[in-house]
Amino acid sequence: MEGSAKTVYLETMGCQMNVLDSELVLGQLRAQGYTSTDDMTGADVVLFNTCSVRDHAEQKVLSRLGALRKPKLANSDMVIGVIGCMAERDPDGIFAKMPHVDLVCGPGELNKVPALVEEVRSGRSRAIALAQSLSRRSTPLQRALEYDSVEALDLARSPAPDQNVLQSYVRVQRGCDKFCTFCVVPFTRGAERSRPASQIVDEAKMLADRGAREITLLGQTVNSYVNQEHGRPVRFAELLERVSAVDGIDRVRFVTSYPGDFTDDILEAMRDVPEVCEYLHLPVQSGSDAVLGRMRRQYSVGQYIDLIQRARAFVPHLSVASDFIVGFCGETEAEHEASLRLIEQCGFKNIYVFKYSPRPGTVADKRAVDDVPDDVKRRRNADLLAHQERLAIAANQRLIGSTVEVLVEGYSKAALKAQEAEQTRGEEVSWRASDQLVGRTRSDQIVVFPGSPGQIGHFVTVLINAATALTLHGAVVSNAPVANASPRRFADRSLTVLDSG
Ligand code: SAH
Ligand code: F3S
Repeated sequence: MEGSAKTVYLETMGCQMNVLDSELVLGQLRAQGYTSTDDMTGADVVLFNTCSVRDHAEQKVLSRLGALRKPKLANSDMVIGVIGCMAERDPDGIFAKMPHVDLVCGPGELNKVPALVEEVRSGRSRAIALAQSLSRRSTPLQRALEYDSVEALDLARSPAPDQNVLQSYVRVQRGCDKFCTFCVVPFTRGAERSRPASQIVDEAKMLADRGAREITLLGQTVNSYVNQEHGRPVRFAELLERVSAVDGIDRVRFVTSYPGDFTDDILEAMRDVPEVCEYLHLPVQSGSDAVLGRMRRQYSVGQYIDLIQRARAFVPHLSVASDFIVGFCGETEAEHEASLRLIEQCGFKNIYVFKYSPRPGTVADKRAVDDVPDDVKRRRNADLLAHQERLAIAANQRLIGSTVEVLVEGYSKAALKAQEAEQTRGEEVSWRASDQLVGRTRSDQIVVFPGSPGQIGHFVTVLINAATALTLHGAVVSNAPVANASPRRFADRSLTVLDSG
């Protein structure tokens, strides 16, 4: 049933890992002759790469699937698939609620998506691939074989010629062994496994050859990366050095770090390796030791604050982002206030706040009661964000008058909207001098400034002249990166840096 111009619509929910998985799945489908489309109801294959971390994300997928009932009745050849964490967590539930789904595929089996789609297209039967393979019960040999098959997805990575790889994700680790009591990830993504360092470095080289300047290393607890090579362990600090040494890569970031495993060798690498950016995503979840205990987070508030202080001693201008959960089982007003205090003490660049959502199968869901009413969760959520916003505005306004190095990513949201409007009016898309570009600093601050299209993909130096909680505004003062962003960096690599402007 090979059609001539097969199209795929792929929508991604959730974390950066899913964004990367989607890119890789699309790459595999492209190799089979598919082109991607924005037209969901008209596509030959519709895939949702799903997230199970909160119920809300799953409900969104169900409503999207519901909207496909009629198009599928009209076109029975349409293949509808649910891939990623929700597929792994509840395949039976998906088929029961949405019988028009043809395919489910867990996050550990995504290299099989093209074969599964063909299975559906040729036999019109359901196709299923779930990662029981990643079960913690399988033998070491089974796990090694299965791991090879999982690895195939990343190893086959081959960006399309027109794909923007300027900032690319590279997976260094799969799964998680922490089993925080609220979290479904260890169940959907399986045991923690680190990829061989040489494969990661090769992937970074391939991306650099195609124009990548910034690499973000991905893992659920990325700092606990360790992989044996020639009989000795390669740890995360060494991996940072090796990826940073790849020609053409100017910035290296990594997410997400687990506060419990953060050793000083990583901080030393952040201090000494010029490419490693002054940025950490270090989810804390709560400012109360009692809540951290109930979450089984394996560190105390004091240890978390110590870590941030230690990190800032190594890397003075370090910016830190964090995650908080509000309304976890039994959270009292005093425990909530402890989170507010922690925000005050840490000086986060930004925070992500989530209302606790019980997840089937987790310890918290089995043994604790989701007893904080939703309106209280909502109010606590707003409390944390408002507090953070006040502090971030003040901190960002202190940056007014300073210059920062920005890697220019593209047009600002407002400029894109104006361009879209021109397009729908049938006008030729034009560039106005007032149009804004957007990029990021090494510390992951978003910077918006007037510029020209030729600056996209390059480094510029921007003088900051205004700031809100989440965005810095400024004007380009030079097309070369700033010298004072990181003096050691400039001294080390002024030649490479000046080339890039
Ligand atoms: N280490 C992972 C964490 C995955 S979940 C990472 O890469 O970020 C991302 C965030 O979602 C967590 O840090 C936590 O703040 C939030 N989260 C996880 N489970 C949740 C739940 N059951 N309810 C609400 N928020 C949750
Ligand atoms: Fe989830 Fe905790 Fe791992 S939040 S991803 S179980 S570190």
